[in-house]
Parts: sequence; C-alpha cells; structure tokens
Amino acid sequence: MIEHSEVDVPYPQYLCPVDGKELPLAEARMSVTCAEHQPRGEALGFTVREARLSDRHAIEEICDRAWGETEIDVFGRTFDVMACDNLVAVEGDELLGLISCTVHGGEFAVVMYSVYPHNQGRGVGSALLEAAAGMAASRSLTSMKAAVSNDDLPLLYFYQRHAFSIAEIATGLLADKLGYAGVGFAGIPIRDEIRLRRSVCP
Ligand SMILES: CC(C)(COP(=O)(O)OP(=O)(O)OC[C@H]1O[C@@H](n2cnc3c(N)ncnc32)[C@H](O)[C@@H]1OP(=O)(O)O)[C@@H](O)C(=O)NCCC(=O)NCCS
Repeated sequence: MIEHSEVDVPYPQYLCPVDGKELPLAEARMSVTCAEHQPRGEALGFTVREARLSDRHAIEEICDRAWGETEIDVFGRTFDVMACDNLVAVEGDELLGLISCTVHGGEFAVVMYSVYPHNQGRGVGSALLEAAAGMAASRSLTSMKAAVSNDDLPLLYFYQRHAFSIAEIATGLLADKLGYAGVGFAGIPIRDEIRLRRSVCP
C-alpha cells in the first residue's frame, strides 16, 4: 500500500489554542492538561435549532470545509447531508456548527458533525449533540451511532466523553477505499472507521 504525504481535507479543522493559528490536520498535535487548564473559548450566546431552507448555502459550505462535499461515506454507504435531519448552531446570521443525522438501521446515525475551528471549545459541539439526542428521543429511537476515522483523536475523545462507546472497527476500510492511507490528524495514517454507539438517554 502506498503512503501519500498530501492531506486531502481542504481546510483546517482545528485552531492552535496558544497562538490561534489555523491547523491543517497533519500539523495538529495533542497535549494533556488538567480539566481546569483545557483551552476554552469565550462563552457564546448561540442557539441550536433545526435547519431551515435558508441555511442551505451555509450547510453546503461547512460540509465543503470539513469534508469537501455534502455526500458522506460512512457506515458502509453514502449519505446526502442535504437529505438528512440537520441541526445548526447559530449566532445571529452566522452558522457556528452543524450536526447532520438520519435514521439508519433503526438508530439515529450522525452522518456529519463539525464546529468551525474558531468556535470550538465553547460548548457548541456539546449543545448540538444533545439536541440531536433530543430529536432521536422525540422519534422514540433508543440508540445513536457515530463514526470517526482512527486518526481523529479529538473527535474520538469527544464522543467517549459524551457517553459513546466503541461498538466496532471497520479495519482498513478508509485506506482500502482510497487505495492508500491518507495523512490525518498529527500525521497519523487514516486507515480505519471506528464506530461508536450510545443510548439516546444515557
Ligand atoms: C469535536 C468537535 C465537534 C467538538 O466541538 P466543540 O464545540 O469544540 O465542543 P465543546 O466545546 O462542546 O466541548 C469541548 C470538549 O471537546 C474537547 N475538544 C475536542 N476538540 C476540541 C477543540 N478543537 N477545541 C477545544 N476543545 C475540543 C475539549 O477538550 C472539551 O472536552 P472536555 O469537556 O473534556 O473538556 C469539534 O472539535 C470539531 O468539529 N472537530 C472536527 C470534527 C471533524 O473532524 N468533522 C469532520 C468529519 S464528520
């Protein structure tokens, strides 16, 4: 299998908490702190709500930045974000983050989940996830599932901090699909899709 050094994700997904620099995935690194010294942004007065038709362009844009397109390959099939149940976090007219879900295999599946780098660490991601759990509960669904590539340690950390546990690992799936292991977070080769699950009401 060939190892490619170029990063395919089009835009930075994280910010350096020290100097505010936007970080292409391969340039990002992790550090461990006590809870008190975790990097935190200023509290935001944002709202989480169901997406409207007028959010269409902003949703396409955040998908483009996080993923490169609105068609997302996950759980062994392709989902169109624009046809999913979309919840957005907004402050005024500005979209801060998106969680896109759909019912798949009797569970509420997270298809796309992204908070713009300069809005991270301010509770936006947590609020979106809990709103998605609320939507699942209102549909009498009992289980949620999500997936993360093996390199995306911040997202894997985040899901486990929010009551998800690893359910299965599609070993080699992502590398096999591309024909090579792309370079992900901190330069870690992107190979596997880690699938997680939690109860809607943990
Ligand atoms: C994971 C993510 C959704 C979290 O959103 P968020 O708004 O920063 O989350 P919150 O502010 O509610 O929670 C912050 C928590 O997440 C952790 N975290 C994860 N990534 C973080 C980041 N980049 N900045 C700050 N905190 C981050 C914090 O350590 C904190 O954990 P703690 O509660 O244990 O202290 C966001 O970082 C993100 O969009 N990452 C990119 C995801 C991605 O790869 N999407 C594309 C494929 S679907």
